[in-house]
Amino acid sequence: MSSNPLPTYLLPDCASSSPSGALKIGGILLEDLAEEFGTPLFVYDQEHIEQRCNEAVSSWGPGVAYATKAFLCKEMARLAYEMGMDLDVSTAGELYVALQAGVQGSAIVLHGNNKSDEELKLALDNSVGKIVIDSFDEIERLRNLSRKCRVMIRVTPGIEAHTHEFVQTGQDDSKFGFGLKSQSAQKAVKLVEQISHLDLVGIHVHIGSQIFAESSYALALETVADFAKSLDIGEICIGGGLGVAYVEGEVAPSITSWAQSVRDSANRVGIAPDVKLTAEPGRSIVAQAGITLYSVGTIKDVSDSKTFVSVDGGMSDNPRPVLYGSGYEVFLPREYMVVRDKVVDVVGKHCESGDFIVKGANIPADIEVGDILATPVSGAYGYSMASNYNKVPRPAVVFVRQGDARLVARRETLEDLIRLDE
Ligand code: LLP
Repeated sequence: MSSNPLPTYLLPDCASSSPSGALKIGGILLEDLAEEFGTPLFVYDQEHIEQRCNEAVSSWGPGVAYATKAFLCKEMARLAYEMGMDLDVSTAGELYVALQAGVQGSAIVLHGNNKSDEELKLALDNSVGKIVIDSFDEIERLRNLSRKCRVMIRVTPGIEAHTHEFVQTGQDDSKFGFGLKSQSAQKAVKLVEQISHLDLVGIHVHIGSQIFAESSYALALETVADFAKSLDIGEICIGGGLGVAYVEGEVAPSITSWAQSVRDSANRVGIAPDVKLTAEPGRSIVAQAGITLYSVGTIKDVSDSKTFVSVDGGMSDNPRPVLYGSGYEVFLPREYMVVRDKVVDVVGKHCESGDFIVKGANIPADIEVGDILATPVSGAYGYSMASNYNKVPRPAVVFVRQGDARLVARRETLEDLIRLDE
């Protein structure tokens, strides 16, 4: 990490500075949002999300789906849908939220490596657009349910995308999909084709998440090309996975360049131009739109070289650093363009030494108890993976747009923490 000011390219599109150098998103000071809604707080730049949805629809075309696992609440589902995206859901829970938000079933794609009969029934009752079949057991379940639906076969191409092993999904020993090398995918197609109520419309290949190398997608397409060409299908979905920059120095391809490179690869490997290419971006739609605001509660110097800055959240609102060793930048919204010349460990309030947000974070040396501290690029897989560990209530979520801030998910209360208890 460096002592440079926060790189502004990590901020949402509608970031701007007040005359005193404080950060505004969507025209509102982050410190004012913290004051009004409390901390920890997830703040999303709504126009940034709209812009990324627009880019996804214009570069991939209709049928591109927002992967709801990255961040979901009713308002997010509504927004992605209104912007013309379909929605990818992978559980009954995500499906329910999308339906409650008013998303039509026909715009929903159901995923999951272990869909229950109940999940499949809920999907069929709501006439979902597609079910992506992931196992032989699922084929049998769908056979027995005897209901018409459009399906895709999820294929494991047998490649290892360059990303954290926990978020790789394309390798031969993945729990997802049907292997090509083992001939499982070919067998799955034959079985599905024998079931008259299932309409096989395409294949699906998702190789992992937080992938920067467009060549990984080219390799995935190359690997499935012969198989795809042997089938009478109208669609290949390459899943999600486009990486985003989290820290200084990282550069990620845009959604537009990703779509173009996948199209080029498809041409190169001879996939017919009338086969529709689609995708399911999650992180690249919402990650950079979101900033998490915390309050600094204690600052503890434990040695000449070690200072802990404790904030009022932690692994319960962002488990990614602990799970994947993911890096984040840290800054003070009150003066975000200044050098960050002090090195500290930003830690949470949970009862674990492993509860950290950023180890060795650079932060302005005048940081004080009571300051609002922020982590940019925290809009994906933070709120969606949040927990109540240590009975810490989940934060609120606010969307800001052109000077207007609206609460889209309220903060959990202490009463919420016992609502399931008998
Ligand atoms: N489609 C499928 C079938 C997926 O499994 C995923 C993500 C996506 C689309 C969206 O991928 P994205 O564009 O967001 O990379 N919790 C991890 C990420 C897990 C991703 C799981 N699947 C993290 O925080 O990095």
